[in-house]
Amino acid sequence: MKIETLRWREGRLELIDQRRLPLEFAYVACDDAAQVARAIRDMVVRGAPAIGCAAAYGVALEAQRYAGAARVQFDAALEQSFEVLAASRPTAVNLFWAIERMRQCHAQSRDASVEAAAKALLELAQEIYGDDIEINRAIGRHGAPLIADGARVMTHCNAGALATAGHGTALGVIRSARDAGKHISVIANETRPYLQGARLTAWEMVQENIPVTLVTDNMAGHLMQRGRIDVIVVGADRIAANGDTANKIGTYTLAVLAERHRIPFYVAAPLSTIDLSIADGSAIPIEERGAAEVTGFRGVRWAPEGVSVANPAFDVTPAALITGIVTELGVIGQPDAIKIRALFGR
Ligand code: MRU
Repeated sequence: MKIETLRWREGRLELIDQRRLPLEFAYVACDDAAQVARAIRDMVVRGAPAIGCAAAYGVALEAQRYAGAARVQFDAALEQSFEVLAASRPTAVNLFWAIERMRQCHAQSRDASVEAAAKALLELAQEIYGDDIEINRAIGRHGAPLIADGARVMTHCNAGALATAGHGTALGVIRSARDAGKHISVIANETRPYLQGARLTAWEMVQENIPVTLVTDNMAGHLMQRGRIDVIVVGADRIAANGDTANKIGTYTLAVLAERHRIPFYVAAPLSTIDLSIADGSAIPIEERGAAEVTGFRGVRWAPEGVSVANPAFDVTPAALITGIVTELGVIGQPDAIKIRALFGR
């Protein structure tokens, strides 16, 4: 089954409703930027590259809606769409990267008709989407040699086809290694509190017939200590200029454990996840989500009323704990600011 996380159908953006997986497989349709922003905020679509693609289409939807309007209205609607989309989630930089590209495209089409500008914006959204699939395949090609035949690969959260336009970053490396003929198995951490590992990664791996074992997050140390994990591959939401990496909460714990047990720890991410404007991980904004995700799940509450809750959705893994960052241009071993700048030809 080909997983089309986002698709453009007859002038609408359709998104797999990831809140309902794996119990139900259904699409929701968006007709304007505000609906896309809500879908991002409510986790209908999630995962850094997928959020970026959705935001680009959100701008394109708004442009389409105002393609018959006067230029001032068109411009005002687009400005509004940039703002509403940028306010949807704070950590994944791909969101801001995609909005910035759409903003530049809009600025470049100032002298064109609004119809032509709307067309250019849709074409760019489609390009960002198409490129993302190619980029993930390239990440997979570069990352596959890092996975030995027979490897037991731990991953966290979901950095798969559902988190991108297709193929995935961390799961893309796993898919590409399998496609290269390697027999690998995946250990998927459940990923409390939102269960992206249990619900989404486990589902993707089952769809692909890649052997997958689901564990709760607190089992990771024990499995590493017992020699049952060969390598760890995770995705990223934002990588600072020095290689410090924000990813789903719990990633830092894994990296510390991996160092202790001398297990290679790889981050797989496109260049659009690297934020050169942030010197190190301490400046990466960490999303704080609602208490209900921690006190229960889907309406079932297990924590007492009156308890206070912390729910940081991401944490930062220092570059020193990362064996390598796998990008579409290749693998940066032991990442640092100089190697990362070189990737961008700076
Ligand atoms: O809160 P989420 O589900 O959007 O968090 C997703 C992650 O942390 C992923 O690991 C990351 O975005 C990389 S996706 C290729």
